[in-house]
Amino acid sequence: SSSSVQKKIGIVGSGLIGRAWAMLFAAAGYTVQMYDILESQLVTAQQELDKELHSLEEKGALRGQLKASEQLALMGFTQQLEELVRDALHIQECVPEQLQLKKSLYSQLDGLLGGDTVVASSTSTFMPSLYSEGLQRRQQMLVAHPLNPPYFIPLVEIVPAPWTTTEAVERTRLLMLSLGQRPVTLKREIEGFATNRIQYAILNEVWRLVESGILSVADVDLVLSQGLGLRYALLGSLETAHLNAPGGVADYFKRFGAEISAVSATYGPTPDTQAEGAALAEIARQCEELVPLAELDQRRATRDAFLIHLARLKKQFE
Ligand code: NAI
Repeated sequence: SSSSVQKKIGIVGSGLIGRAWAMLFAAAGYTVQMYDILESQLVTAQQELDKELHSLEEKGALRGQLKASEQLALMGFTQQLEELVRDALHIQECVPEQLQLKKSLYSQLDGLLGGDTVVASSTSTFMPSLYSEGLQRRQQMLVAHPLNPPYFIPLVEIVPAPWTTTEAVERTRLLMLSLGQRPVTLKREIEGFATNRIQYAILNEVWRLVESGILSVADVDLVLSQGLGLRYALLGSLETAHLNAPGGVADYFKRFGAEISAVSATYGPTPDTQAEGAALAEIARQCEELVPLAELDQRRATRDAFLIHLARLKKQFE
């Protein structure tokens, strides 16, 4: 087979995340084929990709060495799962976040996969064992979880099931690096992976601060957007600690460890964020005051424009 066939990537599901992956792979020169159950979605995807790539090109924010038209020429579309799987080096699954749907798709894929194709799920919540258990090709299946928008946020969480081979993990890691993404590999699967475990810890505490009336929604978000987040755009919380004491991280925890434990003991129970109670009503009211629902799209566009600049700035620092 020719080298372009060997570099074929299959993408299952042509929604928001499927399209983002298509752009990342094409920017790195891979041949990309997208599959969807809905023909209308594939048509929309093709139009959106065309629009998006040309608009990025105009802004000078297109990734890779190829022009937008050349990247588009690398993309194909199909409604045949069998055709998608054929000769694919890697399949990136991006169907909606419903376990039954994923399970039935993976059992379909299981019957079609050759021995050499790795299948990675974009899932943000399902541990890979939940949908791959019992399948014949389960050792070739894992999670590669991106953050939205993946084009501007390089992190990918690679999460193996207990039966995923180290070879499949390593191949996926190298593939992500070849896109210019920055993978982290979890040693074993865990609920929430790493990103959401940390994100939820923050959500729980900002919820408690708002619920107890200590800070408004606007102010609790300022703590991140005008405070901690500025550091975190460069450093993680451990390197932050390492830099914040004369003798580094060991010194930091010697000085502040007792304080950290004392404050942590006051956090209280995990809030029930699902209950449609007074706390949620108040948080929603204040959030909608900050950004009215009708302006969410505009605010998302601002976020993406900001992330373009931030991605450039981060590159300069690396
Ligand atoms: P989406 O709803 O935008 O796109 C899903 C696509 O899958 C649609 O085009 C739909 O027609 C197609 N589809 C449905 N059933 C299918 C099937 N059986 N076979 C093939 N295609 C099928 O969803 P989105 O947001 O792109 O999410 C996809 C995955 O990415 C989910 O697992 C989600 O958890 C994950 N993810 C989403 C993020 C986000 O911010 N939206 C961030 C990170 C991960």
